[in-house]
Amino acid sequence: MRFTTLSAAVALTARVSSAPVTQTNATQAAFVDIPAGYMKGFKNPSVQSSVGGKAVCISGTVDVTASANNVHINHPGFTNQIEVTEFLDEAFQVNSTLLERFIGGRNHVSGSYGIYSQLCFPHGMVNATTIQFLIHGGGFDRSYWNAAPGYSYVDYAAEQGYMTFLYDRLGTGLSDHPDPLQTVQWGLQVEVAHELITLLRTGSLAGLTFKHVVGVGHSLGSFQTNGVTTQHPDDLDAAVLTGFSPDTSGSSIALAGVDLTIAAQNQPFRFSELPGSYLTSNSIGGTQYYFFRAPGFDPAMLRFAEATKQTVTFAELFTSAATVSSNFTGPIDVVNGENDLPNCHGNCLVPYNKAAEAKEAYYPAASNGSSWYLSSESGHGLNFHYSASAAYEHIHNFIKANGF
Ligand SMILES: *[C@@H]1O[C@H](CO)[C@@H](O)[C@H](O)[C@H]1NC(C)=O
Ligand SMILES: *[C@@H]1O[C@H](CO)[C@@H](O)[C@H](O)[C@H]1NC(C)=O
Ligand SMILES: *[C@@H]1O[C@H](CO)[C@@H](O)[C@H](O)[C@H]1NC(C)=O
Ligand SMILES: *[C@@H]1O[C@H](CO)[C@@H](O)[C@H](O)[C@H]1NC(C)=O
Ligand SMILES: *[C@@H]1O[C@H](CO)[C@@H](O)[C@H](O)[C@H]1NC(C)=O
Repeated sequence: MRFTTLSAAVALTARVSSAPVTQTNATQAAFVDIPAGYMKGFKNPSVQSSVGGKAVCISGTVDVTASANNVHINHPGFTNQIEVTEFLDEAFQVNSTLLERFIGGRNHVSGSYGIYSQLCFPHGMVNATTIQFLIHGGGFDRSYWNAAPGYSYVDYAAEQGYMTFLYDRLGTGLSDHPDPLQTVQWGLQVEVAHELITLLRTGSLAGLTFKHVVGVGHSLGSFQTNGVTTQHPDDLDAAVLTGFSPDTSGSSIALAGVDLTIAAQNQPFRFSELPGSYLTSNSIGGTQYYFFRAPGFDPAMLRFAEATKQTVTFAELFTSAATVSSNFTGPIDVVNGENDLPNCHGNCLVPYNKAAEAKEAYYPAASNGSSWYLSSESGHGLNFHYSASAAYEHIHNFIKANGF
């Protein structure tokens, strides 16, 4: 019963998220109460409901001007699958120097980038002092936070009275897809996030000025949230890092298992225009291996993840590293699936509590309001598991306990 209902919901979600972002008048009519001022900052804005109907979302492209010290990638780009697979073979060979050779010196990048964004709020409420700033991880887009009824962080937050801001990271979803080697890297992604947070704090989006911003990341998005707390320690009042720990020793077997393939060849109907260095999970088996842990999920959610899978680049994966946020004094909350493969090597408690250890390792000045949580029967993609809403409950208790 649960399975059938969810399958229908997932099918509906997939159809909605793959449809072009245009609105019928009927949809707009349902939200006529939204004043035009709330569209401020969004190009071609439209209005939708979250998947569970608890939130109303304004969606559109936000132009973000950002610059960063990226690194120069010493690689011409991948032209066929043999090169991609060989790259990982050589990267993980004993005493490999491939990654040292792949990553060169500093390379300043700057530009204006179209970032597809959504601002979601509970029905009848558009004036709040706190916003949650959500950054999804590699292999997915913003729909990771709003996947299906019962699996939507956006819906849960709205039920608790919170507004959320979510976006497709540069190089994913409906955002711009610049050079996958030199441009789409951790350094620039951190600065894009910083610029978006600045827009939210200065009344430049929807005309709303947020006093408090709580960062919530997943996986690569947590590495970027961590980059924000290190480089711009005043941006976030609190940081929630999911799929994140000091133990990334499982990432090589996880990357081997997900079997990254050239996205344009794997999903020609979705990604045919992308250069060969945009990669994606090869199959539903690879997606399960990296992100899921049975029996903690409904197979319909695995099919949803495979149907909505997105791209990632080696340049972004291998320039991402956790940093010590010595000047960040807010609280942090580290939340992992207890069996996270890439970022806990499959067990977040062996041989030590890796979620708790993240504070010791990276947040020496974080406040005593900090917390951690392990989501039961869950792998790396915790939002896709039955235990997702228990994790959301923990996170919202953490946010409220810290007064935001
Ligand atoms: C939507 O409605 C407006 C007037 O209410 C009309 O001018 C416009 O043509 C309609 N657009 C579509 C796509 O039907
Ligand atoms: C290979 O790496 C190991 C440890 O990772 C090190 O002890 C050893 O000296 C290295 N060998 C060479 C030939 O560099
Ligand atoms: C929003 O809330 C703040 C504080 O509660 C209030 O000062 C402000 O006037 C409100 N703005 C609008 C547009 O309702
Ligand atoms: C932390 O703050 C100190 C004092 O303001 C400053 O000198 C230092 O550069 C900051 N560290 C980082 C990593 O920003
Ligand atoms: C946190 O708790 C420890 C131990 O009780 C205390 O020494 C420290 O001053 C507290 N820090 C803050 C920021 O409250």
